[in-house]
Amino acid sequence: MPNAYISGTGSYVPPRVVTNEDLRTEFGIDTSHEWIHKRTGIEERHFAADGVGTAELAEHATRAALESAGLEAHELDAIVLATLSPDYHFPGSGVLLQHRLGLSEGDNVKFVPALDVRNQCSGFLYSLSVANGWVRSGMYKQVLVVGAETHSHALDLTTRGRTVSSLFGDGAGAVVVSATEEDRGIRGIYLGSNGKFADALCQKIWDISRFPYVPLDEDGGGLVAPDMLWAHMEGRTVFRNAVQAMTGALMEACKACETTIADIDMFAFHQANMRINEYVAKMLELPAEKVPHNIHKYGNTTAATIPLLLDETRREGRLKDGMKVGLAAFGSGFTWGSAIIDW
Ligand code: UT7
Repeated sequence: MPNAYISGTGSYVPPRVVTNEDLRTEFGIDTSHEWIHKRTGIEERHFAADGVGTAELAEHATRAALESAGLEAHELDAIVLATLSPDYHFPGSGVLLQHRLGLSEGDNVKFVPALDVRNQCSGFLYSLSVANGWVRSGMYKQVLVVGAETHSHALDLTTRGRTVSSLFGDGAGAVVVSATEEDRGIRGIYLGSNGKFADALCQKIWDISRFPYVPLDEDGGGLVAPDMLWAHMEGRTVFRNAVQAMTGALMEACKACETTIADIDMFAFHQANMRINEYVAKMLELPAEKVPHNIHKYGNTTAATIPLLLDETRREGRLKDGMKVGLAAFGSGFTWGSAIIDW
């Protein structure tokens, strides 16, 4: 059975930087840098330009990951794309990415399967587990895994929405999961969910149990009330459960691959909130130098946070071949996951 390792990483954030102060001055939100920074560690985030969507962000990150892996797009065997902000309701953004990569027509046509994963902040880890299974089973040799989000176009950027909208940013991260006979790669993945909390962090938009699934005006146009249109979050419930689930998931992944937390050289945690990660680090007694973060620059980019962090730390020379890396994420669902990788 081949091993599955990460042969390349890439990331992309759109150029526009929005600081905490910009949320107040440009958008008129009753907030402050102090409030946001003290509770979350966030200083700024990036917002995509009007007309730019998730598949486009994903394409930039993918091209960088392919370059780092030394591959051309047509050498990929499959695409897994994690997002909670797909370009369309359907089809998923994975097929849009397949087309953008030039695989749908022309000289390099290749009708690779494209799978969208809808697991929000845990989306990257769920996607990684799919890629790992495909590669280790021998079904595919090169699987692209992307996390990409265009949050800013679906945030309530008013004082009403400030608890949610001050946390999120746009971006994309990608990795190539490749087959190898070497003794390295993804060692263990642990995933979980608890649907009891589905409503604690959600963006409903419609009610599919009703006809019509969104109320209509007299011309047949959709009318979505603010409580359905915008994301809802019970912040303290999310916080408490995140600390517990991420800590537990890391311990489970370690147990599954017969390693210990102390053996891990670097942790790449989902970047939802600096304070959540500080609690996890405290509970597991992790030294700060093993826990890099970049939430201060990007905010929460949901499915993109972990691949973005892996790419940044790899490019900075902090993440090196031979290191043992621990990943963990928690989010809407609730869903969570962890992975141990011999890089
Ligand atoms: O991947 C999962 C994503 N989600 C998370 O990770 C969220 C985890 N939770 C958290 O990080 C925290 O719960 C928050 C940072 C979201 C909120 O912090 P909190 O200390 O739990 O605040 P709160 O929601 O209890 O709100 C306290 C006050 C409220 O005002 P009143 O009702 O006491 O007058 C909020 O309206 O703070 C107000 N508030 C703000 N004030 C200024 C909420 N958001 C803001 C804001 N600026 N951006």
